[in-house]
Amino acid sequence: MTDVTGVPASADVLRTLFHSEQGGHEQVVICQDRASGLKAVIALHSTALGPALGGTRFYPYASEEEAVADALNLARGMSYKNAMAGLDHGGGKAVIIGDPDAIEAGQKAELLLAYGRFVASLGGRYVTACDVGTYVADMDVVARECRWTTGRSPENGGAGDSSVLTAFGVFQGMRASAQHLWGDPTLCGRTVGVAGVGKVGHHLVEHLLSDGAEVVVTDVREESVRRITDRHPEVTVAADTDALIRTEGLDIYAPCALGGALNDESVPVLTAKVVCGAANNQLAHPGVEKDLADRSVLYAPDYVVNAGGVIQVADELHGFDFDRCKAKAAKIFDTTLAIFARAKLDGIPPAAAADRIAEQRMADARRR
Ligand SMILES: NC(=O)c1ccc[n+]([C@@H]2O[C@H](COP(=O)([O-])OP(=O)(O)OC[C@H]3O[C@@H](n4cnc5c(N)ncnc54)[C@H](O)[C@@H]3O)[C@@H](O)[C@H]2O)c1
Repeated sequence: MTDVTGVPASADVLRTLFHSEQGGHEQVVICQDRASGLKAVIALHSTALGPALGGTRFYPYASEEEAVADALNLARGMSYKNAMAGLDHGGGKAVIIGDPDAIEAGQKAELLLAYGRFVASLGGRYVTACDVGTYVADMDVVARECRWTTGRSPENGGAGDSSVLTAFGVFQGMRASAQHLWGDPTLCGRTVGVAGVGKVGHHLVEHLLSDGAEVVVTDVREESVRRITDRHPEVTVAADTDALIRTEGLDIYAPCALGGALNDESVPVLTAKVVCGAANNQLAHPGVEKDLADRSVLYAPDYVVNAGGVIQVADELHGFDFDRCKAKAAKIFDTTLAIFARAKLDGIPPAAAADRIAEQRMADARRR
């Protein structure tokens, strides 16, 4: 979405919730379990298309207001992502307040079990999954108390790591961008810069190399870069993201690290003609999508191209089937092309076109 950063971290949250465009959430649950120390927020933005689906962020928020604001923003983002992915799911998200790395294992398990009981109390209106700070092993614990838990390990009936299909989906978004801009989906001979070669980024690099692209990478972790260059010495390494985005002759920039990659500093110096990557919330603030369009940079909206992961966790509810999921993630190619076509037709940036299409799907579902 273009305006995910709009919810204030203060007592204004309630006013925002009921009266602003960033609000409109159906339900917000504040959870407290004194025995385990759990403090969590579950936000359901919309169940128009089906049960709200979205991950659990475990993060040391500076304040409870900040946690509520983050849950609201993230839940709304999931409504759009799920709608665009063609899933019969609305948007929801949960945040657990705390530092997952500073908590002792036994206490963490108690906390996750208490969290699972809260999710279960919603009776299936919210389906949870992993997010920043929570892992497959954590979802296995949550699942002991709650059947509406995805992101579990294969031993527990889950699909495991979602980064494989997320990378595959981003690759499809890139192929669609190439088709739209250059009339051919192949990335052969194109130069692609990948910033962040962690779980998703390194799978993406493999797809790009298989398709014949020239690849430039950067990462703040040396081990992540070495994992790539040991296998593929032909890959070029940029000193940092700033150097990568200024690389002469770069065709595509793939932000695959943190949010906010597209901002007032980075957009003016991009050499790439396309931005398409896995990171969530790439647009640092509303208006950046217009700055990209003004510079004739084609932006493949983040929540459209990185939906492979949520497609995977949604499938877990029906007994995970990798090939079925891959076929759904392959549709990201057509969805991305449809967004570019709509953007051209309406004379708006692709990010705004994606929002319109997602909002339409939710509105149609509400009318039925
Ligand atoms: N894993 C998924 O299935 C999935 C699904 C949808 C969206 N995403 C998003 O994609 C992004 C990457 O996810 P991931 O699972 O690969 O995470 P990850 O933590 O495995 O990888 C991120 C990589 O970025 C690097 N990094 C951090 N800051 C950086 C910086 N300033 N410059 C360069 N590199 C930096 C890290 O060292 C790490 O190697 C995240 O924004 C995530 O929210 C992931």
